[in-house]
Amino acid sequence: CGIVGYIGRQDAAPVVLEGLTRLEHRGYDSAGVAVLGTRGVRVAKQAGRVRDLTAALPKRFTGTTGIGHTRWATHGPATDGNAHPHQDESGRVAVVHNGIIDNSAALRAGLTDAGVTLASDTDTEVIAHLVARSDADTLEGKVRDALGSVVGTYGLAVLHADFPDRIVVARNGSPLVVGVGDKEMYVASDLAAIVRHTTTVAMLDDGEMATVTAAGFTTMRHSDLASTGKTASEVDIDASAYEAGEHESFMRKEILEQPTSSQAVLRGRLDERFGTAHLGGLDMDARDLRAVRRVKILGCGSAYYVGQMGAALIEELARIPADAEAASEFRYRDPVIEPDTLYVAVSQSGETIDTLLAVQEVRRKGGRCVGLVNVVGSAIARECDGGIYLHAGPEVAVASTKALTNMFLGFALLALQLGRTRDLSIADGKRLVAGLERLPAQIEEVLAGEADLVEVAHQLAEARSLFFIGRVRGFPVAREGAQKFKEISYRHAEAYQTSELKHGPLALIDPEVPTVALVPRDELTERNIGALHEIDARQGPLVVITHAEVDLGEVRARRIDVPRNEPELDPILLTIPLQLLAYHAAQHLGHDIDKPRNLAKSVTVE
Ligand code: G6P
Repeated sequence: CGIVGYIGRQDAAPVVLEGLTRLEHRGYDSAGVAVLGTRGVRVAKQAGRVRDLTAALPKRFTGTTGIGHTRWATHGPATDGNAHPHQDESGRVAVVHNGIIDNSAALRAGLTDAGVTLASDTDTEVIAHLVARSDADTLEGKVRDALGSVVGTYGLAVLHADFPDRIVVARNGSPLVVGVGDKEMYVASDLAAIVRHTTTVAMLDDGEMATVTAAGFTTMRHSDLASTGKTASEVDIDASAYEAGEHESFMRKEILEQPTSSQAVLRGRLDERFGTAHLGGLDMDARDLRAVRRVKILGCGSAYYVGQMGAALIEELARIPADAEAASEFRYRDPVIEPDTLYVAVSQSGETIDTLLAVQEVRRKGGRCVGLVNVVGSAIARECDGGIYLHAGPEVAVASTKALTNMFLGFALLALQLGRTRDLSIADGKRLVAGLERLPAQIEEVLAGEADLVEVAHQLAEARSLFFIGRVRGFPVAREGAQKFKEISYRHAEAYQTSELKHGPLALIDPEVPTVALVPRDELTERNIGALHEIDARQGPLVVITHAEVDLGEVRARRIDVPRNEPELDPILLTIPLQLLAYHAAQHLGHDIDKPRNLAKSVTVE
């Protein structure tokens, strides 16, 4: 979900609505805005996209103070009533909220017993009633009182008709930033909403609250309102990174950025002379690195699949047992935390709540957890003992592309450094450093072949169901390929180990069910081609992502050749065509590529 607020000289609603469109990738089930003007608090909200709300805004919806929200439904379906802002019964209070109120059921029951009629199914609504019912004489005091009975995570913004000169915002686990303008101020859950207006900002910490007026802001702890004295500073950010520009979607822009964005994660980290990587941010010396007996990678969605690619790299290069697990599973199964295991949290946003809570679980039990994170200063980055920033730049499309590529490269750097403190030879180290240096240009080469993929993608789009298969290094690539395909094309796509196909799914292969197979030139090529024969014999249509050197023999297949790098690094070059296939399939089907149905860029709720 996303939050935007404005207080100043202009009419607030247009500023807030424009900001919301920039946060829509975080949730787009419903949207709403509240303004505070001479006629008190007015709210407009509805299911659907921000543009629908903008079109439906009532006449003279004016006021120079406003807050808005775009929602990814958790508690209660995406209806007009469940859209934020939520209000108390008098309509004097309006609240927008990201996060989850864990004790909302008890709070709702308590409010109902006290005679309050609840208007929605949401957890957020209770905050509006609690603020309204506090007898504190300042808005800050009322918010403090309300939050005193709330258990959960929140980033929230509150308007109150009795305190027309301010917006009060509070944070616990869900990001909030205050932006400083000229006699006008902004609040947002993400910089993306406000960078067009200002780059002078203050990020709130957990447990912090801020009073924002047209003239400035003050920060305090929300437990006791003691000042925290935070000031704003300049962030070095290029507002154009948040614009799709001439591209028809952010996903396409981000795919095409990869030759450049992939250089950023490598920059200054490769050591050609000693065939290693330097990762100062890990905060681990050679002795710490040598003490690692096992590596456990934790992430969700695409970050989890690239984590599997990373685990394979670490095992191969450093010969340390490594595996990846969905952070969402890990933290619920009472995992054994070992002191000589290195835990690695991987996340584009640095906000995914399941990953964050997994990190906390590791650290609570004395484990060391480092992060591979894109967003600097995000919750996961802060929670980790050290890490590798991915430097992919802002990623807006829900389907991760350039951040995922940099995650892979981050793992390659980590594997190299771990390997070189152990058995990996200097020759192998140098071979991999040279391979990494070649990669950005090879990514560009794959992208240059885009036109050849379009027609294949259109054919795949027609299938109701398809398989993605790969082996060992290629299996996580297949999983990521299937994930990307299903999330934006809404076609059923299933990843399978090529070797396991004949133990079950082969039963589903027929002329209607295509398979996308990853067949790199490596020690498994012949076996993989054997599996292609089995598919071909059942008239299963085949698309094979492979290397020019691979001879597919008699197999009938549409082949897509990618450049070769070192075998350990090939997975990322095999991934790029899968991004393009998913992209063109979804485009052919006319889907909203950047905002696939039911999904959101950052899932900050459990
Ligand atoms: C969501 C997104 C996915 C993403 C995952 C992890 O589910 O829809 O695209 O891979 O979260 O996000 P993170 O920010 O932690 O990498």
